Formats: sequence, C-alpha cells, structure tokens
Amino acid sequence: MSTNNILRIAVIGGDGTGPEVAAEGMKVFKAVAKLEGIKYETKDFDFGGNRYLRTGEVLPDGAIEELATFDAILLGAVGHPDVAPGILEKGLLLALRFAFDQYINLRPVKLYPGVETPLAGKGPDDIDFVVVRENTEDMYSGIGGFLKQGTADEGATQTAIYTRQGCERCIRWAFEYTRKRNKRKRLTLVAKTNVLTFGHDLWWRTFQDVAKEYPDVETDYNHVDACCMWMIKNPEYYDVIVTTNMFGDIITDLAGILQGGMGVAAGGNINPEPGGTSMFEPMGGSAPKYTGNNVINPIATIAAVAMLLEQAGY
Ligand code: IPM
Ligand code: MN
Repeated sequence: MSTNNILRIAVIGGDGTGPEVAAEGMKVFKAVAKLEGIKYETKDFDFGGNRYLRTGEVLPDGAIEELATFDAILLGAVGHPDVAPGILEKGLLLALRFAFDQYINLRPVKLYPGVETPLAGKGPDDIDFVVVRENTEDMYSGIGGFLKQGTADEGATQTAIYTRQGCERCIRWAFEYTRKRNKRKRLTLVAKTNVLTFGHDLWWRTFQDVAKEYPDVETDYNHVDACCMWMIKNPEYYDVIVTTNMFGDIITDLAGILQGGMGVAAGGNINPEPGGTSMFEPMGGSAPKYTGNNVINPIATIAAVAMLLEQAGY
C-alpha cells in the first residue's frame, strides 16, 4: 500500500454498462472501508470508447504514469459498438495488463447458493474452483503480421510466445495459491502438450520442476479439450487450474457460465510483486444495449472489489 496507509484506487468505468456496475462496486467498497476503518482515495478516469471517439486516443500521455501511483484499478468494462474490435481491448485492457506486468489472471469459479447453473444435478459444493491464467504472453503478445495483405493470396501469422520466466512465475504463484487455498490441494496444468510440442513442452517441464518445491500439492495434467469435457461432467474434480493465456481465456468463459453467467464472474489481473498495481474487473463485458437501464447484475463487480481488498491485504 502507498504511503500513510492510504489505499488508492483508480476507477475506470469504461464503456457501456461498465460505469454503472463500477459505481455499485464502489458503494460496497466505501461501506466496507467505513466498517473496517480503511483510509482510501479514489479517482475516476474516463478512459474508454467515448473518449476515444472524441479525442482519437485510448490512453492519453501520462496515463500509465499516473495509474502507477495507485495501489489498484477497478475496471468496469471495455467495448464500444462504434469502435472497431481490438482498439479498446488492445489499447486499454491489454495495454494496462502489460504495462503493469499483471502476469496473473485470477478467475474464481464459484456457484453461489441460490444461483442457477446450466449443469443438471450440480450445486454450490460441486462448482468451486479457481483458474490461474498466465496474462502476458502466448498469442496475446501481439507478434504477427500480414503477407500480401488484401490480395487474393494473402497470409497472416499470429505468434504464440512463451518464456521460461513467464510461465515459471505464473506456475509458482499457482502452487502457492493452491497451498494457501488448502482445499483439495490439487493443481491441474491445462495445456496441449500433444500438439504444441515446443511452447507447451516448456510449460510442462517448468511445471514438473516447480512441483518439486511443493510436495504437499498434488499435480495433475489435462489437455485443454479434455478439460472442457470434464469441467462439464465433473466440475467438483477441480481445485486450482493453471493454464496459458489463450486457453485460459476460453475455459474461463466456459467456467463462467457454470457459475451462473458472466454477471457473476469476476477476475483479477494481478502483479503480485511488492508495489505492483493490480486491476480487478467483472467479466461480463460492456453490454451496450443495456446502458442506463441499471439491469446488469453488479455482483461480479462486488466480487472484484472483494478480490481487490484481498490483494491489498485486507
Ligand atoms: C478476458 C477478455 C479479454 C481477453 C478481451 C476483452 C481482450 O475476454 O479478460 O477474458 O481476451 O483477455
Ligand atoms: Mn475472455
């Protein structure tokens, strides 16, 4: 936390219904802060599609430097119907994840009592696991390009890059998390070692190496396609999953629907290093057609605020 024990939170409401849910999350934050005697400062930032359409820039000069002075960021949502796909995602969400080296994407998958799941015969005791997704590498690296763009024989590359340092820090954090969670104490690596014989071989070997430091944690491996099947069939099997960025993106939407939908799912983009700036968000997206109706379930944002407080040491 910053000097004088003041918890500084930057609020980026973002697009569509993002500002509405962020406001609900901050109401809960303020109530908790009062009860717990937490001193805090908050500042709103108007980054998002509307600002981009007005000014032509997603993140203005100095934005990263200013955000770096905060302990945490609460992000409502990104995605605007009048802005081409990728501009806000890459220019805001991914830019912040990368700039602050938020190398953990933490996605708790918990079915709250009274919430409906599409899985027949499964309840809150069965759907309670956590996905730890690597958040800075893989196909998200932005490496690639076009060949003969716009011609009949054009081609494109989109490169997945994995580094030893990048997967090792994520895997080690996942082992620590599994130990602290202390539930089944089982960590499942989800990858595709039978096809991605370079990048996921690096993940596999790193997983085996780090596992030696955690003899109390049971290790397990699923190919990603099989994981999609078992997550539906036996969600109760999972405790903590650690996985690569792209596969993590996909399986966390699958997992999100098991917990009742994206209005319930929260995520943390965490830089666990001392002084790191982490960012917390509801996973539901900007849902632009509902803007202003106050109909979006704020529970995901409230859960994101809970994760923020936990990361801040409360
Ligand atoms: C998520 C989102 C993002 C991602 C998009 C909006 C870039 O789907 O946080 O899961 O792919 O990481
Ligand atoms: Mn996603």
